[in-house]
Amino acid sequence: MKALTVQPLVKGSARLDDVPEPPESDGPVLVETLGVGVCGTDVEILGGEYGWAPPGRDRLVLGHESIGRVLQAPAGGALAEGDLVVGIVRRPDPVPCPNCAVGEWDFCRNGQYTERGIKEHDGYCSERYRITPDYAVKVDPTLGMLGVLLEPTSVVAKAWEQVDRIGGRAHWSPATAVVTGAGPIGLLAAMIGVQRGLDVHVIDQVTSGPKPDLVKDLGATYHTGPIHQAVEAPDVVIECTGVGGLVFDAMEHVGPGGVVCLTGVSSGGRSLDVDAGVLNRSMVLENEATVGSVNANRRHYEAAAEALAAADQRWLGRLVSRRVPVDRWQDALERQADDVKVVIELGS
Ligand code: BGC
Repeated sequence: MKALTVQPLVKGSARLDDVPEPPESDGPVLVETLGVGVCGTDVEILGGEYGWAPPGRDRLVLGHESIGRVLQAPAGGALAEGDLVVGIVRRPDPVPCPNCAVGEWDFCRNGQYTERGIKEHDGYCSERYRITPDYAVKVDPTLGMLGVLLEPTSVVAKAWEQVDRIGGRAHWSPATAVVTGAGPIGLLAAMIGVQRGLDVHVIDQVTSGPKPDLVKDLGATYHTGPIHQAVEAPDVVIECTGVGGLVFDAMEHVGPGGVVCLTGVSSGGRSLDVDAGVLNRSMVLENEATVGSVNANRRHYEAAAEALAAADQRWLGRLVSRRVPVDRWQDALERQADDVKVVIELGS
């Protein structure tokens, strides 16, 4: 079968390969892949900056944002032929650490977790894959291909959960939220904020293309300046860019008792002048919190499935700005001006 593979840490090593059918050891559920989303992590892997091949191998099947259709599943289980499913990315470490032991692999303590399409376990960008039912999440069948947005939505569903848990250390009724970055993660974070009834403000750099309208049509407000010009003292900031200046802008301008959740991954190598004393003072005197958040466990995928089922499908459809057949995978990876989420199609 066809699969998009890469040699991790070797730039430009991606190719469309002919690989064996998925191993039975991956699980009893056989899934036909319909589409795979491309995200910043994939771009890093393709650029030779991130990623790990499975033990004893050179190449990794790429793809961690997926949507597929069940071809075979054990009788009497939660999944049946024809169900639309998304595969969870991370698998617990084998030790397991105390968090992985209770299904909170997104908080793995020892780093020995694996991630499909990223770390030591083949991903979903192959015509078929196998999985165990506990790592396959059913999506609303009316979503069709848009179910590919479930994985990035799970990442922001987790971020919002972190915000709530930390905010909930005292009376917590947030009214305003800022989201930095109007890429897919930022837009999906904003979507959940709007669904929760918050006044949401999204900050990005562009003034044209689809992003400003996507934000407006969500019922949120689009801005291009710094955080304090967009809204004074927001209760929540979800930082989705990993840009150092914005991270500190968020920490400096979040409101009293507010929570900043960092979801972007910075590349490092750049330093900033920060007045650490002023930052420390405001964080202490105003009980502010900053938290990092990565990945998602099954609870977050389920919350994300609910958020997508409640969303306007026409709006979600505009997030998937380009669909590219797998045979033209190179086109999918070449960034175009109006790209939001690009999906590689493997089936229909
Ligand atoms: C994925 C996460 C993963 C992270 C780090 C992100 O792109 O969505 O599931 O944990 O990369 O590898």
